Amino acid sequence: MANATGNEMLDDALRRLSDARDETELQNWHRDVLGRKGSVSEASRSLGKLAPEDRRQLGQQLNALKGQLESAFQARQAEVQTDLLEARLMIESIDVTLPGLRPTVGSLHPISAMMREASDIFAHLGFQTIEGPEVELATYSFDMLNIPKDHPARDVWDTIFIQTDTQEITLRPHTSPMQIRTMLQQEPPVRVVVPGRTYRYEAQDATHEWHFHQIEGLAVDTNITMADLRGTLAEFARQMFGSERKVRFRCDYFPFVEPGVDMSIDCPFCNSRGCRICKGSGWIEILGAGMVHPNVLSNVGYDPEVYSGWAFGMGIERLVMLKFNVQDMRDFYRNDLRFLAQFDRARL
Ligand code: FA5
Repeated sequence: MANATGNEMLDDALRRLSDARDETELQNWHRDVLGRKGSVSEASRSLGKLAPEDRRQLGQQLNALKGQLESAFQARQAEVQTDLLEARLMIESIDVTLPGLRPTVGSLHPISAMMREASDIFAHLGFQTIEGPEVELATYSFDMLNIPKDHPARDVWDTIFIQTDTQEITLRPHTSPMQIRTMLQQEPPVRVVVPGRTYRYEAQDATHEWHFHQIEGLAVDTNITMADLRGTLAEFARQMFGSERKVRFRCDYFPFVEPGVDMSIDCPFCNSRGCRICKGSGWIEILGAGMVHPNVLSNVGYDPEVYSGWAFGMGIERLVMLKFNVQDMRDFYRNDLRFLAQFDRARL
C-alpha cells in the first residue's frame, strides 16, 4: 500500500465517519472499516503478497492507520452520544417557571359543609356534636316525645315507616328522637347538638323537600331557662348570619316542649318587604324550639322537679338558602356541578 493510497483510505473513512449520526450508523462504519471483513483487514491480508521489507513498512503504516481510525471512531461515538443526549434534553425539558395546571379537586356538599359550620358554632358555645340513626324506632320518633299514637300532631311527622311483629320503625322525620337516646344514655348536665338527615312524607316545593337535614340541640341541667334558649339561638344567628340580620321568636306548638316557639330570620331576599320566598311575610322560619316537656323528662327518668331543659330543631337547607341567597331548595339535590361549585368559592 503506497502512502498516497493510505491517506486516501484514511480521508475517505474519516469523511464517512463524520456522516454517522447514530449508534447504528457508527456500528456499520466500524464493521465496514475496522471489522474482520473491513477495508483495513483486507489491506492487511494483501500484505502477504509483498516483499518482506515492503511488508514490514506497510504493516507499520497500516497499524498506525488502524490506531488513528480507532481513536477517531471513539471520538465520534462520544460526540454522537452527546448530540443525542442534548437533543433528548431539549425535547424533554420542562420550564418550571410556567404556571401549572390546577387539578380539579372535589369539595364538601354545601349541606355537609353547613352541618359542620353550625356544629362548630355550637361547639364554641359548649355543645358536643353527636350523630344518631336515620332508621329509628317509632317509640323514639314519637311516643317518648309525648306524641302518642292517637295524637293528631303525629300526622305532621308521620312518615315512611315499616311495621315489624314487635315494633314500628321509621325513617326519622326529625332529629328529635336523639333527645331521647341522649337522655337515656347519660345523666344531666346535657349539652349536645345532632346534625343529620331526616325524611318526611311531604310535597316538594322551593322550601320543602321529602328528605332534608336538621340540627337538633338539647341542653338539660338545673336552672335552665327560656332566656338561655333565646340567648344561645340569637348568638348562633349572629355568628352565622352577622349582626345585621334580625331574629324573631313566636309561640308555636310541639308536643314535646312547653312552652314552644319558632324562630325566624328577616328575609334577606326582599329585606323583609315580603316576597315569593318568604310568602309575603318578610320572615323565614328556620327552627322550632321550646322548654323540654316534663313528660319527656319523666319518660327518660329525669326528675322534672329537679331538672329543666330546652331543645331546638333547625333546618340545615334553610340556613344555606338564607346565607347564600339560594331560592330553590331542590337545587341542592340536582347534582348540577355549576350550582355546587359556587359554594367551593364561597368556602362555607
Ligand atoms: C320539628 O321537626 C321539631 N322536631 C323541631 C323541634 C325540636 C321543636 C326540638 C321543639 C324542640 P318542624 O317540623 O317545624 O319541627 O321542622 C323544624 C325545621 O326543619 C323547620 O323550621 C325547617 O327549617 C325545617 N324543615 C321542616 N320541614 C322541612 C322540609 N320538608 N324541607 C326542608 N326543611 C324542612
